[in-house]
Amino acid sequence: MRKVFVSRALPPEILQPIRELAELDVWPEDSPPPYPALMERVGDVDGLLCLLTDRIDSQLLEHAPKLRVVSQMAVGYDNIDVRSCTARGIPVGNTPGVLTETTADLAFGLLLAVARRIVEADAFTRSGEWRTWSPMLLAGQDVHHASLGIVGMGRIGYAMAQRAAGFDMRILYTHPRAHEEAERKLGARRMPLESLLAESDFVSLHVPLTPQTHKLIGAEQLDLMKPAGILINTTRGPVVDQAALIEALQAGRIKGAGLDVYEKEPLPADDPLLSLPNVVALPHIGSASISTRTLMAEIAVQNLAAGLEGHPLLHCVNPESLS
Ligand code: GLV
Repeated sequence: MRKVFVSRALPPEILQPIRELAELDVWPEDSPPPYPALMERVGDVDGLLCLLTDRIDSQLLEHAPKLRVVSQMAVGYDNIDVRSCTARGIPVGNTPGVLTETTADLAFGLLLAVARRIVEADAFTRSGEWRTWSPMLLAGQDVHHASLGIVGMGRIGYAMAQRAAGFDMRILYTHPRAHEEAERKLGARRMPLESLLAESDFVSLHVPLTPQTHKLIGAEQLDLMKPAGILINTTRGPVVDQAALIEALQAGRIKGAGLDVYEKEPLPADDPLLSLPNVVALPHIGSASISTRTLMAEIAVQNLAAGLEGHPLLHCVNPESLS
């Protein structure tokens, strides 16, 4: 009988198709398996269903000689050494598409929350300090008609641009090539990152984490932003130099930040970011709607099943692994 390890509990009905193909070992805890435990559990498996919290590197793959498929329940896969998987003929699945709109909803929600100080205002209402309506009480920044710089006009970047168009925002973007639809339908303008940072009221990051995008936004880039500028990051934490961001926020070189991702997750409760009132900090929930997370789990299961059967995956990041 084939064996499969699933690195976190998923609803049993979603895992049912796998149960018909393989013996299932599901990590029972809420927190991820520590690396040594993961290493031990993959020792004799044919398939692995993992999350972005699991490090799948070449050392781990060496300990999994029978592994035929890695299926990740996420669109991003920077936690996986894809090159090593390819070299071993192991296809890697991910779950793109289904989470695009949900993630853009959250990114735009963060933008609104920081601009209009929604989280701060909620805390104020609850604090008992609200005395009267007052002209400048918790006055924030307008979103409508402002400029939004989208760094990376992929699927989620475009979905963000569509939301921005509904607020009559001016849309600027960076991308390796022109996005014809964004330009034609939404009037988006492509430009170099430096110009985008200087011209945008809001900058929202939508590039995957790669060696090229690691610390793409550092002190130099933050300095180019407007003092009233707001940074939104819903992609991966290491795309931003977090120490530089904290410094820029503390010094008032930018106005605020809306973050769903961090260099290290979970973000420690005593992180300086959390002492800044101009930061809205979420616990990496970009795609966390019930229906989207269900769809992601279903796709991860389909990818896993296909890989176990030696069929092409529905979504594969390294199709060359099978050639
Ligand atoms: C979540 O961050 C994902 O990559 O799906």
